[in-house]
Amino acid sequence: MRIRRRQYSLDERRYGRGRIFSLFFSRYPRKGDFFMSEHMRRALQLAKRGRYTASPNPMVGAVVVDCFGEIVGQGYHRRAGGPHAEVYALRQAGERARGGSLYVTLEPCNHQGRTPPCTEAIIAAGIQSVHIASLDPNPHVAGGGAERLRQQGIGVEVGDLQSEAIALNRPFMTWSTLGRPMVTLKAATSLDGKINGWVPATRYLSSAETLKRVHDLRRSHDAILVGIGTVIADDPSLTYRGKGKGRDPVRVIVDSHGRTPPSCRALQTTSQAPTLIYSTEDASVEWERQIFANGGEVVRVAHSDSGQVHLPSILHDLAERRILSVLVEGGATIHGEFLKQSLADQWISFFSPILIGDRGLAAVFGSPVPSATCELVEVRTLGTDLMVRALITR
Ligand SMILES: NC(=O)c1ccc[n+]([C@@H]2O[C@H](COP(=O)([O-])OP(=O)(O)OC[C@H]3O[C@@H](n4cnc5c(N)ncnc54)[C@H](OP(=O)(O)O)[C@@H]3O)[C@@H](O)[C@H]2O)c1
Repeated sequence: MRIRRRQYSLDERRYGRGRIFSLFFSRYPRKGDFFMSEHMRRALQLAKRGRYTASPNPMVGAVVVDCFGEIVGQGYHRRAGGPHAEVYALRQAGERARGGSLYVTLEPCNHQGRTPPCTEAIIAAGIQSVHIASLDPNPHVAGGGAERLRQQGIGVEVGDLQSEAIALNRPFMTWSTLGRPMVTLKAATSLDGKINGWVPATRYLSSAETLKRVHDLRRSHDAILVGIGTVIADDPSLTYRGKGKGRDPVRVIVDSHGRTPPSCRALQTTSQAPTLIYSTEDASVEWERQIFANGGEVVRVAHSDSGQVHLPSILHDLAERRILSVLVEGGATIHGEFLKQSLADQWISFFSPILIGDRGLAAVFGSPVPSATCELVEVRTLGTDLMVRALITR
């Protein structure tokens, strides 16, 4: 026999029987309790499961808590085009969602996209209160979801664990607010900050643990970008070669005058990911034909005053292709130019225990690059190396 539980009103649950019941008998007390953020923390953990698959959509997690304070539904957004986190959580909760609360890391959508609006699913499920960690900054949906729920008499609270939720979706937030992907500059350097000049016999300066992390970075970014100087010096294939499942990022080469050899690894290595070469009108049509014949795509954009590829135009084009994050793997000139034009959001250094001295090239090079202030967000040892990650705060 199925026992139907009494449904408590929002006030009853906050201050009356339901709340007292939940405090004593449930594993997870309700919002307003000492453990209020626990449900949101759980939703954030769930969201992280979409790290390698959700893009170009944001990572989102959701938890449904019934009127007794018990978690009855959980979900996260797995991939673009698939159901949103709220839908998975509500499906799992079924009838037990009625009169309950929803904890979700990003404002529920209120528009018909590839999937129906989540707000309608929440209303239909009979949810009484919705806790949102962060509003959706996308101008097409901003505020729409929370407003629609409030209009239906649903209690909406915004801001619990907001900074964690924003940090989780920094690429999506950057893309939504600045109209360009989030840009991370990455360099593997010696202790004295040099990016080349070590003994040629050791192809990689970095430890095995660092290489593992680098490949993790590659699979969590939508695109990986290098300058033509790096293609000529190192001929990188720019693919993901880590142990876990993952996709190759889109490969991007910045080459103003069409110097990329059609035989380079980025074009010859088999991959599902396209290779885009951003160039200017200076590059020859014959070179473009050869690149095309080898599976690449030449994208001609405006040039800067120096006659080189205009970096904001690259980022604009990538954003139009729904690329939310770009990992810039050098070299020094390209790093310098991104910094100079204030187009970089994050810096990651992998320091190896070696001193190169004058033989090596500094990680940032070129015409005067203004200094930038940074906020350290991660420092760790990786085998024999040290990793430092910092947000560029300007
Ligand atoms: N340790 C590491 O993490 C690491 C990573 C990568 C590279 N590296 C090393 O770095 C060295 C290569 O660095 P690099 O500085 O010579 O080359 P780079 O930064 O890879 O490429 C610079 C080239 O990009 C082109 N470019 C196109 N648009 C540009 C723009 N708007 N601004 C600036 N440049 C633009 C320019 O050539 P055009 O004018 O012809 O377009 C420029 O010469 C190599 O020795 C490589 O081994 C080390």
